[in-house]
Amino acid sequence: MGLVRCCFTESLKMDLALLACLVTVVGICAARSDAPRGVAVPFVFDPTATCNPPCQHAGICIRNNTCFCYRGYEGETCQYANCYPKCKNGGECLRPGKCRCPSGFGGKYCHKVNCDSGCWNGGECIAVNGVAKCICPSSWTGSKCQEAICPQGCRNGGSCVAPGICSCSEGWLGGACHTAVCHRPCLNGGKCVSPDACRCRAPYFGPRCEERKMF
Ligand SMILES: *[C@@H]1O[C@H](CO)[C@@H](O)[C@H](O)[C@H]1NC(C)=O
Repeated sequence: MGLVRCCFTESLKMDLALLACLVTVVGICAARSDAPRGVAVPFVFDPTATCNPPCQHAGICIRNNTCFCYRGYEGETCQYANCYPKCKNGGECLRPGKCRCPSGFGGKYCHKVNCDSGCWNGGECIAVNGVAKCICPSSWTGSKCQEAICPQGCRNGGSCVAPGICSCSEGWLGGACHTAVCHRPCLNGGKCVSPDACRCRAPYFGPRCEERKMF
């Protein structure tokens, strides 16, 4: 009875490890010369030990409630995979050396910030409080810096197509699409107030203010 010294090579799989243990129990401590490679790792081993909850990930119960974990796992029951280097930015170690990254992060260790569809127009992808987002140059906005900013505004259905540049709808002109176009000019001091529509000065009237009221 008592404790038996047992030897393992690190590279043995679980089955071989158990076999090595059985061999050890009958008294042949296996510093096996025909072992594939690697160093023998000796540790104290109690063949009657029970571990409850049981050892996970092929860990071996070496004393009551003490698991020997294989490389890549740790914790009381070898329940945790470990990742070196550690997973960054809140990544979770799924299995040894394999991180699952939160969205917005990538790379083997979740060390890379990853803005889903990139940042356009010179925007820079950075992590803000653990969330990846684009920081846009001053004349662009939107989640990907895809929207230009026109500080003057684009009126009358115009749209901002580049910083400070409006594309105007038909019948409007000007930096902010604020000038109506009358293809035939308004006469007698009338003002073009919307596409092809004049506002006339009294006493003129008509589509182009071409008529005069008689009193
Ligand atoms: C391990 O636990 C078993 C039962 O739980 C007990 O009989 C045994 O004596 C324990 N071994 C040691 C070394 O404490």
